[in-house]
Amino acid sequence: MLKKKEILFSKEEIDNAVENIARKVSEEYSGGELLIVGVLKGAFIFMSDLIRKVHGVDIIVDFVILRSYGSSTTSSGEVEVVKDLHGPVEGRDILVVEDIVDTGVTLKFFKDQLLRRGPKSVKICALLDKRARREVEIDVDYVGLLMDDGFVVGYGLDCDENYRNLPEIWVLEEEE
Ligand code: PRP
Repeated sequence: MLKKKEILFSKEEIDNAVENIARKVSEEYSGGELLIVGVLKGAFIFMSDLIRKVHGVDIIVDFVILRSYGSSTTSSGEVEVVKDLHGPVEGRDILVVEDIVDTGVTLKFFKDQLLRRGPKSVKICALLDKRARREVEIDVDYVGLLMDDGFVVGYGLDCDENYRNLPEIWVLEEEE
């Protein structure tokens, strides 16, 4: 198992980033109803913190599991829906919650899928954005923290399923 090297984002930095997104979401959807869709597994901690900081919005939650088959220069066909949404999408305001956007392939695929089901709106929020790695165009409406390339774990993110429980976000040591 690769070892942790150093903390990239502290608990406080993460908390502030989540708070900022929650404030914007509370303003944007004030008085309305919002379907918040978490992309498992990585988003589970971020989503649980985020929804407890959103105020004045009626929130429904749902989850999907998506499996991406690596990066590609084309944007379709590499993502599989392992577990789909439980409830309906039509006519709803939807906020998709991701832990990290890398190439953008996963989110582009999922957003396109959602749009075909007739929602009122679809927006995306991600705690971490590796913008320099983007391969497909996708608007991330709410970004928590920008980062450079590098393998990060903690706060929901894993390395071979390890480290998801760390309260901070860590960079791993590189393989020799
Ligand atoms: C991560 C992340 C996104 C995706 C982003 O999931 O949660 O879903 O990769 O990559 P992309 O922008 O290049 O498509 P991962 O496959 O690690 O699964 P996990 O959430 O279960 O850890």
